[in-house]
Amino acid sequence: MKPQDVLAGRGSLWIFGYGSLVWKPDFKYRRSEVGHVKGYKRRFWHGDNFHRGDDDLPGRVVTLIEERDCTWGVAFEVTGAQVAESLKYLDVREAVRGGYVTKVVEFHPRGGHGPPVPALVYIATPDNPTYLGPASPDDIAARIVACRGKTGHNVEYLLRLAEFMRASCPEVDDAHLFSIEVAALARLSVLLISQKRGAVPI
Ligand code: SIN
Repeated sequence: MKPQDVLAGRGSLWIFGYGSLVWKPDFKYRRSEVGHVKGYKRRFWHGDNFHRGDDDLPGRVVTLIEERDCTWGVAFEVTGAQVAESLKYLDVREAVRGGYVTKVVEFHPRGGHGPPVPALVYIATPDNPTYLGPASPDDIAARIVACRGKTGHNVEYLLRLAEFMRASCPEVDDAHLFSIEVAALARLSVLLISQKRGAVPI
């Protein structure tokens, strides 16, 4: 039995997002809460050959890696018909196209907004064929700046996630995410300057 079948049987299901879901869930939900899960760090270690890259050059997107750390994001509660609708939608978006598998984690809403709740999460594991693994912030940024997929540019994914963290969790220093953002912005400004000088065709 899949984790989602166990949780969905309760009539209410929480889904934890820590990547593009935080700024673009694109499914109907009853309510959402910012919060964190313990025991995982978020890393740009998964390769994406659909949404933010292609087969020739997979984009770099986030997954969760088990470690004594915590990862902040948003959990969405779906109820009634929303449960089946959201699972059907996410199965295509996250599993079929994204290569993620499901797991159950304990979600802690921020600022005492209720007790921890079990939540479904989509995670990419190293045995996935498009998994890319660790690299330096600059190498990850270089790939992100170079990649675009059917959903949009990989830079949009990075910047929106960093913006979410600054706006919704300003007290959290997500060093991995912010170091890649800095490296990507530096690369983009060099590209822009080169374009202005005519060294790189626009
Ligand atoms: C995803 O949810 O993993 C992909 C969607 C996106 O990149 O916007």
